Amino acid sequence: MAVLGPPVRTASTTGSWQNRPVPDDSATPSSPAPRASTPQWTPSQRELDDLDLLLNESFSPPLPGYVDPSQSGAAGAITLVVDEDAAEQAIAAGQLDLVDPEGAPLARLFLTGTWTADDGRVGLAGPVSPLASISYGPFRRLYLSPADVHADHPTASLLAVPVRRSLTSADLEVLDKAAQEQRKTLLLLACVGEGMAQDLSGPALIRATGAAARHLESPVLVVAVGAADHGDQATNDWLLASICRAFADDSIILPETPPPGSALPEDVAAIFAKDHPPRDEQGAVFFFTGLSGSGKSTLARALMDHILEVGERTVTSLDGDVVRHHLSKGLGFSREDRETNILRIGYVAAEISRHGGLAICSPIAPFESTRAEVRRMVERAGGGFVLIHVATPLAECERRDRKGLYAKARAGLIPDFTGISSPYEEPQNGLKIDTTDRDIAECLSEILDVLTTEGWLRH
Ligand code: ADX
Repeated sequence: MAVLGPPVRTASTTGSWQNRPVPDDSATPSSPAPRASTPQWTPSQRELDDLDLLLNESFSPPLPGYVDPSQSGAAGAITLVVDEDAAEQAIAAGQLDLVDPEGAPLARLFLTGTWTADDGRVGLAGPVSPLASISYGPFRRLYLSPADVHADHPTASLLAVPVRRSLTSADLEVLDKAAQEQRKTLLLLACVGEGMAQDLSGPALIRATGAAARHLESPVLVVAVGAADHGDQATNDWLLASICRAFADDSIILPETPPPGSALPEDVAAIFAKDHPPRDEQGAVFFFTGLSGSGKSTLARALMDHILEVGERTVTSLDGDVVRHHLSKGLGFSREDRETNILRIGYVAAEISRHGGLAICSPIAPFESTRAEVRRMVERAGGGFVLIHVATPLAECERRDRKGLYAKARAGLIPDFTGISSPYEEPQNGLKIDTTDRDIAECLSEILDVLTTEGWLRH
């Protein structure tokens, strides 16, 4: 008889931080005693996922906090890196409050050491103590700690299984056989930290694991763990092994890819299909980049009109000039302001794609790193990203000079003008269109060919 779904987790077991004394040994000798006003820092998603594991005491051997990689062997991946200002404040205070992206305090780091990260930023090491329990996020009630699970299921009774992909019928047979031979309860640990799920989004992996669990004969528990991808296989293997040991005496590691020909149970397949809509139903961002006067706004507009005429998709235009009248009003053309402008466009575009809509962006977007960041934002939101470089040469853009801006820039009246006194980094990939001596219909038809061939549009 299968037992699916652990008990709902109740309030934090740790009590409020305010009632707890600051441990005397929490600060390095060189740092002063902790102050009342502790500086705050929002860690990256990977660091927040690690924090989840640290606070849930999901490492074995136990790990009290973030480490200095040079002193910590395999656990050296559990790091926290902050910028210089935050590091200075944390060193002065001897501690740092880690807050979620909305600013809610999650944990306090008691600083015991610092180290220098490859990118020149500062790594902070030290134990963490919870300030509040995280109470939101899909399936939060399933993010149980080993202690929560062990309240009803002793560690010797459990067989831990890290789950990073949808489970096939063949996987389920293997698991059932092992559980029955060892007379154990299967503990399916859905690994939903950033980048760890291989073939599904995080929530879908939990849904799919729950659905798969219902096909097992053996007793089973499904727990979600914030195990994030740490970028290399050895570290990920160490992380999953450490988590498994914290939960159970024994574990099974399934092959990374299922055996050929092994199918998903029907209900798991349905969850998989819902999580992988065909491209022409998926949200997507068509991102035009190019010099001022290259024709990107005109082409973007033509593409938008075409999509509206076909009438099958919702579509929003985010044009550079237009966005600068509202979303980015007040921003100038320094590198920093341009990056802010593009990241704002990327943020909105990613949200549109999250809902299955199309966003057509047409800023200059001169920097490769910012374009790459927008792609990441969109893909993290589940959207597709197509880069269209309107590669009309500078000489032609300047010859057109519809707005008279190039003449002014040449005369030194507009500083930081792209192509004249500010760089444009040519994209190394994506579709390239030079509009010189070509009409709009011809260029549009080339773009539509690519978008339909690649499956983003049906017509
Ligand atoms: S971006 O660099 O941040 O991507 P964006 O596309 O929003 O630029 O704005 C570019 C538009 O602003 C150009 O089409 C042009 O009309 C106008 N503009 C004004 N000053 C500049 C400048 N210094 N460099 C480029 N474009 C400028």
